[in-house]
Amino acid sequence: MKDIHIILAEIIDAAKECGKIMLLADRNDLKIKDKAGKANFVTEYDCKIQKIIEKKLADILPNAQFLGEEEDCKIDKNAEYIFVVDPVDGTTNFIKDYHMSCISIGLIRNGKRYLGVVHNPYLNETYHAISGEGAYLNGNRIHVSDDDLENSIVLFGSSPYNTELAKKSFELAYEYFQKCLDIRRSGSAALDLCAIAAGRAEIYFELILSPWDFAAGALIVEEAGGNVTTVDGRELPCLEKSSLIAKNK
Ligand code: IPD
Ligand code: CA
Ligand code: CA
Repeated sequence: MKDIHIILAEIIDAAKECGKIMLLADRNDLKIKDKAGKANFVTEYDCKIQKIIEKKLADILPNAQFLGEEEDCKIDKNAEYIFVVDPVDGTTNFIKDYHMSCISIGLIRNGKRYLGVVHNPYLNETYHAISGEGAYLNGNRIHVSDDDLENSIVLFGSSPYNTELAKKSFELAYEYFQKCLDIRRSGSAALDLCAIAAGRAEIYFELILSPWDFAAGALIVEEAGGNVTTVDGRELPCLEKSSLIAKNK
C-alpha cells in the first residue's frame, strides 16, 4: 500500500476539486429534490460530487469500501478500509448560498477512525487528521481551547430531519446557554466539529447524526486534544447513526 501521507495528499486534492464544483455551481439550476424528513433536500451537486469523489477515492485506495450519503451503499463492515463520505455537509446552507458547507471524507481502518479530511471551499480551509499524528488546519497544527464552560461558545445541531428530538435539543441548548457565553447553530456538523478542534468553540452536541456527518470531524477533534462521545458518554460508533457531544476537554 502507498504511504498514508501520499494517500492523505491525494484525498485533500480530491476534496479541493470537489470544493471548486460547489463554488462554481449553477445556482439557478441546483435541481433540488426532497428526501425523507423535514427540510431534507438533495441537489444535483450532492449526487454529482459524491460520484466524482467515489471514483477518485477508488483510484487512491482501490481496496477500500465506500459509504456515502447519497446512495444506498452496500459495504462489508469488516473490510480493512472503509471511506465514509458526505459530499456536501450543509446542503440547506448550500441551497441558500449561506457559505457554510463542506466536503467531509473519513477513512475507517479495522473498525477505528484512521484519517479525516474536511474541506470548506468558501474559506479555503482544509482540516485533516491521521490517527496518532495530530490535527491540522491548512497544514498548521491545531488544538482545542482550554476555556471552561463559563467562557465557552456552545454549538448545537437541531437534528432537523428528526423533529421529535427538537424540543429536547433546544432544552439542552437553553441549559448550556444559561452557563456559557453564547450558542451557535451553523448548519454543518462537520464544520462544527472542526470549530471545536480549532479552539473556536468549546462544545458541540447533536442528538442524532449519520456516520458521514462525523466520520472525519470526530477524529479531527480527538487529534486536536478534544473528547468525542455519544451524548450519554458512550463510545461513538464508526458506521452507525448516533448522538454526539464533542468537548474541548
Ligand atoms: C446536516 C448538517 C446539519 C446537521 C444535520 C445534518 P446535511 O447534514 O450537518 O448541521 O444538523 O443533522 O444531517 O444533510 O446538510 O448533509
Ligand atoms: Ca451531513
Ligand atoms: Ca450531505
